[in-house]
Amino acid sequence: KTNATITAIGGFVPETILDNKTLEKMVDTSDQWITSRTGIKERRILSDKTLATSDMAAFAIKNLIENSNIDPSEIDCLILATSTPDHILAPTASIVCEKAGLKNAWGFDLNAACSGFLYALSVGASLIESNRYQKVLVIGADQMSAIVNYEDRNTCILFGDGAGAVLLEPTSSDLGVIDNVFKTDGNGIQFLSVPAGGSLFPASEETVANKKHFVQQDGRTVFKNAIKGMSSACQEIMERNELASEKIDWIIPHQANLRIIQAVSDALDFPIEKVKINIEKYGNTTAATIPLCLWDFKDDFKAGQNLLITAFGAGFTWGSTFLKW
Ligand code: ACO
Repeated sequence: KTNATITAIGGFVPETILDNKTLEKMVDTSDQWITSRTGIKERRILSDKTLATSDMAAFAIKNLIENSNIDPSEIDCLILATSTPDHILAPTASIVCEKAGLKNAWGFDLNAACSGFLYALSVGASLIESNRYQKVLVIGADQMSAIVNYEDRNTCILFGDGAGAVLLEPTSSDLGVIDNVFKTDGNGIQFLSVPAGGSLFPASEETVANKKHFVQQDGRTVFKNAIKGMSSACQEIMERNELASEKIDWIIPHQANLRIIQAVSDALDFPIEKVKINIEKYGNTTAATIPLCLWDFKDDFKAGQNLLITAFGAGFTWGSTFLKW
């Protein structure tokens, strides 16, 4: 049987830092409140208005290529997980293929909000396992600053911009993506969405005046569901793979809130020291949090180690992936 394994990683975060002190001047909040309630100290913002999600994705691919021996023309397929496409039409993946010089790749966008990268990793792994593709790029990229209202303290403190990329290749070993648990609950839409700009509420003067093109959320409901969703998806995959807590080397959770991560670690009775956390410097970059974590901590992962990756996001969407490094 062919498995899909991660053979290269790249990442990109914009240079501009938006720290809690600066946010204090923008909305009624404090560094103390943000740090204690979320764990976030700063986030990166794509301040160059000529750039967008596709550029961050292309920069992450460039970084991946610099760190590996592959030629862009060798890539067969690109899956771009994003909730902030450059345009509603056409797919951002097409723009990324062009900007990154992926001459022989086909590509598509996948929108599963904060779970997007994990869903995309599973789809990419299936393409490799089919034996029809040799090199599949899976990207998580989001420019959350484009859809966040910087007058709303409930949301603007949480999000940042960034992109992460992984390359999947076939292996006949027992390494790579082993198993996934994925869930979707459309009832969650009322608690977290960007209501306007799609087919239900196309852009109009009214939707703009009512700020319906920005992220709206019921933070407390999302918070509770995120803990429940990620914990139960991890438990399900652990039971199915007879993966006792002691057998897991690292957990890589979606970075939405440090207290969510802590609660998931507690629910799994798993030591927090072995949970990868970088939320303090990037905030919630939606589909990019997990690949940016893999990128930041790649030197800690050793061949054969068991990684449990978990995500929760708008939709609601959630899940967990068992990966042997
Ligand atoms: N600064 C100061 N006070 C604030 C701020 C702020 N930035 N934001 C909210 N408050 C106030 C509220 O108005 C409220 O005041 P009140 O009691 O007078 O009404 C008080 O703080 C407590 O508000 P809560 O919403 O109960 O605070 P909570 O502890 O739940 O933290 C937060 C809010 C950080 C949004 C949390 O609920 C959260 O992280 N939820 C998950 C949201 C999320 O991550 N969404 C992203 C996408 S989905 C995902 O990635 C999982």
